Amino acid sequence: MVNTGAAITGIAGYVPDYILTNEELEKMVDTNDEWIKTRTGISERRILKGEGLGTAHLGTEAVKILLEKTGTETSEVDAIICATVTPESFFPSTANLICENLGIKGAMSFDMAAACSGFIYALETGNNFIKSGSHKKVVVVGADKMSSIIDYSDRNTCILFGDGAGAVLLEPSQDENGIQDAILRSDGVGKDFIYLKGGGSAYPPTHETIDLGYHHFFQDGRSVFKYAVTNMADVAVEIMERNGLKGEDIAYLIPHQANRRIIEATANRMEVSMDKVTVNIAKYGNTTAATIPLCIWEWEEKFKKGDNIILAAFGGGFTWGSVYLKWAY
Ligand code: ACO
Repeated sequence: MVNTGAAITGIAGYVPDYILTNEELEKMVDTNDEWIKTRTGISERRILKGEGLGTAHLGTEAVKILLEKTGTETSEVDAIICATVTPESFFPSTANLICENLGIKGAMSFDMAAACSGFIYALETGNNFIKSGSHKKVVVVGADKMSSIIDYSDRNTCILFGDGAGAVLLEPSQDENGIQDAILRSDGVGKDFIYLKGGGSAYPPTHETIDLGYHHFFQDGRSVFKYAVTNMADVAVEIMERNGLKGEDIAYLIPHQANRRIIEATANRMEVSMDKVTVNIAKYGNTTAATIPLCIWEWEEKFKKGDNIILAAFGGGFTWGSVYLKWAY
C-alpha cells in the first residue's frame, strides 16, 4: 500500500570544530572524567566559537550540505521548519535566517520549540504538510547552540550539553516506506524541573536577572531522569504495540541522547538489543533538537530500504514522543 505521507530522502549533520573534553571541564568545575562517563556516557562535546555565530550558523551549515547532497535547488524548497530552544534571536526566526543565508526565497519557514523533543515534533509537522498536499519538499532542521545558555561554573549542567545541527529532506513517499506513525505528548508539570527563566516576556533581561542567573539553563536532573526513563520507554512501547511490532522487528532505535542510562532503559523496555541502538552521546553530549538528526546522519549508511526505525525523545516542558518510520532508500 502506498504511504500517503512523507519519507526522509536525505540527511546532513554539522558539528562545530571545537571539542570540549571532560579533561578540560575538570579544570573549570569540580568534576571528573569518570563521574561524567559513568553517570552520562559523555566524553566530549562540540562548542561553536566565534563572535556573532549562533544557531542559524549551525542550521545553515547542515541545510547547505543537505541541499548539495540531495541535488536540491534552493528554489525547490517549499518549507523549512527549525526545531530549537536556542534561536538565533526572538525574531526573525532561525528558519527565516537559514533561508536568507542560503538564498531560499518565498518558502514557508518557522521555528518550533519543544526542547529535546523538538526534532520529532517538527518531523511530524513536516509530514502533515506533505500529507495535506500543500508542500512537496520540506526541510526539517534540529539545531541548538546549548553553550549559549549554559553556566560553565555549574557542574550539574555544563558537562551535559553540546552544539550541533542536523537536517532532513522530506518528500512525498513513493512507495510503502516513510513515516508510518507518530505519538507526541506534553505535560506542563515539567516547568518546575527544566527551564530558562529569563529573557522572555516574564523576566526580560535586566542587570538583576543576570545577577540572579535567570539566563542560564536550570535542570533538576534527578527528577527529570525519573520522568524521562518512564515516559520515553512508555511511548516507544506504545507505538510498537499499536503497529504490531516486536523488539525483533526493529532494525534501529534512534533515541534522544541525554543520558546513556535513559537510552539503555528505553531499549530494554522495547526488548531491542543495544547493537540496534544509535548512540553517539560520547562524542557530542546532549545537543537538544540536534541529537536525533545527528544520529540519523551518522548511521545513514547502515540503514537499508524498508528498515523499521523508531525515534524516541523526552525533554523540557515536559515534551516527549515517538515516531515510527520505514527507511525509504
Ligand atoms: N561531577 C561530579 N559530581 C557531580 C556532578 C559532576 N559534574 N554533577 C552532580 N554531581 C554530584 C551531585 O552534586 C550529587 O552529589 P550529592 O549526592 O552529594 O548531592 C551527586 O553527584 C549525584 O547527583 P545527581 O543529580 O543525583 O546525579 P544523577 O545520577 O541523577 O545524574 C544527570 C545527573 C546526569 C543530570 C541525570 O540526572 C540525568 O541525566 N537527568 C535527565 C536529563 C534529561 O533527560 N534531560 C532532558 C533533556 S534536557 C532538555 O530538554 C533541554
